[in-house]
Amino acid sequence: MKTIIEPFRIKSVEPITISNRAAREYYLKAAHHNLFLIHSRDVIIDLLTDSGTGAMSSEQWAGIMRGDESYAGSISFQRFERVVQNIWGFEYIIPTHQGRAAERILFSVICKPGDIVPNNTHFDTTRANVEFQGAEALDIPIPESKVPDMYHPFKGNIDTDQLKKVIKKNGIKKIPLIMLTITNNARGGQPVSMENIRETSEIAKEFGIPLYLDACRFAENAWFIKQRENSYHDKSIKSIVSEMFSYADGCTMSAKKDGIANIGGVLCSNDKELAKKEKDLLILTEGFPTYGGLAGRDLEAIAIGLGEAMDEDYLQYRISSTQYLGEHLLKAGVPILQPPGGHAIYIDAKTMLPDIKPEEFPGQSLICALYKEAGIRATEVGSVMFGKKDKQTGKEIQADMELVRLAIPRRTYTQSHIDYVIEAILQVNERKENLRGLKMTYQAEYLRHFSAQFKPL
Ligand code: F0G
Repeated sequence: MKTIIEPFRIKSVEPITISNRAAREYYLKAAHHNLFLIHSRDVIIDLLTDSGTGAMSSEQWAGIMRGDESYAGSISFQRFERVVQNIWGFEYIIPTHQGRAAERILFSVICKPGDIVPNNTHFDTTRANVEFQGAEALDIPIPESKVPDMYHPFKGNIDTDQLKKVIKKNGIKKIPLIMLTITNNARGGQPVSMENIRETSEIAKEFGIPLYLDACRFAENAWFIKQRENSYHDKSIKSIVSEMFSYADGCTMSAKKDGIANIGGVLCSNDKELAKKEKDLLILTEGFPTYGGLAGRDLEAIAIGLGEAMDEDYLQYRISSTQYLGEHLLKAGVPILQPPGGHAIYIDAKTMLPDIKPEEFPGQSLICALYKEAGIRATEVGSVMFGKKDKQTGKEIQADMELVRLAIPRRTYTQSHIDYVIEAILQVNERKENLRGLKMTYQAEYLRHFSAQFKPL
């Protein structure tokens, strides 16, 4: 059969409230034109994030009931630890309440002020946690990743030549670790090839620097390797995952993505001393090492979800449904970052809205228009999220791309929901000349996009 179906039946449903445009205009104004500040009941299709918003399976719900809530030595932790060790091959497994907690603990232990952390591209929380230690979060993606309409099968790759230059220029003492974010969320959910992971690991080994994966979307990355990289077409996802992680010395992960859980994270390594320091810090702020800020039931849900995320029927449906959205938009002339990513489609707002200057936030303008049009909540991934004020001049530094991310929660929406999204975007695209930019009237010091306030110009 050519038709790819959702490989699941729906057992439990959650109603969506259908609002009207007048109500949405009111909600948007009350939220200072920041969709993070809108109530979820006022959203029709929520594409804000694929993080923690997936639907759990009946097996995961059964796991929730089995959760052992003992403070110490929980059986649920043992199951979680065994699954993670088995899939990724790391020895020391530390549960955390979400990805950024794993990041904070890792960077607190491994980074010092003045250090540099190279990455294909840091996600916003990763960057913020590196910078919070006084270190520099350095993005060195391949140049192709900066051209939104250029096709490259592994546009998430790190620029390995650049990486070598950075290490030689700064010296190994200043580089406590190298990171690879799989898939590269901030640059379009684009995958990293096995070749690129292997090469990065060879460079890391040559200089004696540990390589860490930001493994949030490891299963989606493995699916792309299977589809696009020679000699991997006949390999199982499990064996591809196992090879990917064999090149790394550790990882951080938000289990809210390819753990298909509503909460959770994990920090892994093979370094006994480091793991000991991390556990000490964990106890201080997250909890005892056999639960790390989670409930035993969460550990069960993650352990099961990690396995389900590697199921090939699931991955085929998952990646095809993202592609379906991307291809319909492309066909209608909406500029998107190409090729479609794993967990999201990114509209190139700079190209779509050339009359709105980057300092007037074209991406933010587009997400507000989409919300007003159809109650769809998307995220700006541009100068609101990655721009900042220059500390010396006070001037705004813009991001190099102005994107709007339509992130698809796992197993949550059906094809007709996606058709609704396509229709809404095409309607906004037809009337795009009417859109105006925004002025930012408030911003916080860190991660400003969560709480920023705007006024339409
Ligand atoms: N790394 C990557 C690549 C991410 O995408 C995220 C979260 C994190 C780390 C942090 O994980 O949220 O559990 O603390 N990304 C979400 C998103 C929020 O919408 O892309 P967390």
